[in-house]
Amino acid sequence: MTMEFADLRCFDNSSTIPQPTPASNETDMLLSHSAIWKSAFIATTAAVILAFALPTRNQTGLRGPTFGDRQLLAGSKVPKPVLTTFQRSCQDCHSANTNWPWYSRIPPVSWKIHEDVAQGRKFMDLSKWDTYTDGERSGFLLAIVTATQSHTMPPPKYVWMHTTAKLSDAELHSIRSWALAERSVMQRAKRSRNTDQTSDLAPTKKTSSTGTSAVQGIF
Ligand code: HEC
Repeated sequence: MTMEFADLRCFDNSSTIPQPTPASNETDMLLSHSAIWKSAFIATTAAVILAFALPTRNQTGLRGPTFGDRQLLAGSKVPKPVLTTFQRSCQDCHSANTNWPWYSRIPPVSWKIHEDVAQGRKFMDLSKWDTYTDGERSGFLLAIVTATQSHTMPPPKYVWMHTTAKLSDAELHSIRSWALAERSVMQRAKRSRNTDQTSDLAPTKKTSSTGTSAVQGIF
């Protein structure tokens, strides 16, 4: 035990073997830090260059009438101003007419944006409006009223980047009036379809039953 201790002390005191000094440790750390920063910088620069170099689709940068070729809310009657509001504030995430911004190509922001668009479309795709059932559309109309009135939609973070997407009080009112009116039109149409069906069936049944009783009456 004592011997080992002495050996160690002897080894420690040896000046022939260079020991790492605190100074050289720090230098190492600085070096590795700067290496990390350097690779991070290179990676970021590469991502930005790649993003700009990639052919950009749908990138007019303008939201003009030519922007977005898929019809929104097909199958419903929509006043032009209301349709324009949906195109301006909702179609990026709730339709096939997404106008991808330049930063939607740069990770990690791009991941979040693509996820939002995928989720938005999954919940409600305004370019597939005519493929939804009456029940689904009716539910969407009500959800649109609730989400817009509560300022949940368009999401505040989106409005932050797209200031023109903000809905004015007048637009909120128009969306609400249109959605509720469209919903009652659909409900009336459904009711009248149901009545038509009953009135279609009723005479047939009556005729056949009268017919039968008439036949029975004869014989
Ligand atoms: C930045 C993308 C984005 C924009 C712009 C956007 N939405 Fe959404 N919307 C989403 C996402 C994401 C969801 C959540 C889907 C889920 O929960 O699965 C959603 C959900 C909804 C819902 C379901 C109710 C809710 O609160 O979750 C409604 C209704 C809706 N959006 C309507 C609209 C309308 C109307 C507009 C335009 C005024 C709009 N959205 C604009 C991304 C967006």
